[in-house]
Amino acid sequence: MKVTVVGAGNVGATCADVLAQREIANEIVLLDIKEGFAEGKALDIWQTSPVNLYDSRTIGSTSNYEMTKDSEVVVITSGLPRKPGMSRDDLIATNAGIVKSVTENIVKYSPNAKIIVVSNPLDVMTYCAYLSANFDSSKVFGMAGVLDTARYRAFLASELNVSPKDIQAVLMGGHGDTMVPLPRYTTVGGIPVTELIEEDKLNEIIERTKFGGGEIVKLLGTSAWYAPGASAAQMVEAIVRDQKRIFPVCAWLQGEYNLNDIYLGVPVVLGKNGIEKIIELKLNDQEKELLAESVEAVRSVMGVLDNMNASV
Ligand code: LAC
Repeated sequence: MKVTVVGAGNVGATCADVLAQREIANEIVLLDIKEGFAEGKALDIWQTSPVNLYDSRTIGSTSNYEMTKDSEVVVITSGLPRKPGMSRDDLIATNAGIVKSVTENIVKYSPNAKIIVVSNPLDVMTYCAYLSANFDSSKVFGMAGVLDTARYRAFLASELNVSPKDIQAVLMGGHGDTMVPLPRYTTVGGIPVTELIEEDKLNEIIERTKFGGGEIVKLLGTSAWYAPGASAAQMVEAIVRDQKRIFPVCAWLQGEYNLNDIYLGVPVVLGKNGIEKIIELKLNDQEKELLAESVEAVRSVMGVLDNMNASV
């Protein structure tokens, strides 16, 4: 069973590495436009197999989409990453062109693939892939919520000095500063988080989570890759092993949460068919208000893409 990762930069290569180490797919194709780059990364990953004792094979390709033929899942990480001072939205024009052409090539060779978009600005690049793929929306979705909840859970684990394994959380909205972590739906070993942590501290962690990507851009001068790559790989695993995992995923909404025609982070069931169900939580007024702000932010960037498409 084959999984393709497009873009052999830090996020794509990390995702391929996790897929290989954890034998999530037995064939992983890593593709990039930069001559020899994906081949080099793939070779390096493959050479860890005798050391780490696994047999999943990673193969690199410079823009040869034929090699991606019949992939079950395709992860799109292509595009420029953020530099300090840039928002994810600043990347829209360049990355929309890239995501469109990558998606067209992918669907030509893998008409039954599930497509996971990781490129930024995430929600709108997922929309862009959906428009280009012409697939059912259950098969085109974005990775953001797994990463954003991972950051939130990691911060909570450090603060409470407990295992991150025991922290369960859900987070909604766009992959940007308006994302909506939901403390009401955050538990630590089954205990509501609000029973274990002061409100002020929890609010601080929520704020840090919203800007968690930016915190790393500031430190590194470019965006994160270990957690984004591992998060995308976890979504691939849920699909190829038909795990029916519940993750926050950037999904196309048609009436859910009273929203239409928007890609937004919501909890879903992820299995072999892609998004098998969108879970509708009952939000309180304050949560609804925060979500509405996030919707507005995502819609304004979607509008930029729609205008660009209308003018070509
Ligand atoms: C981040 C980028 C990958 O949040 O969006 O780190």
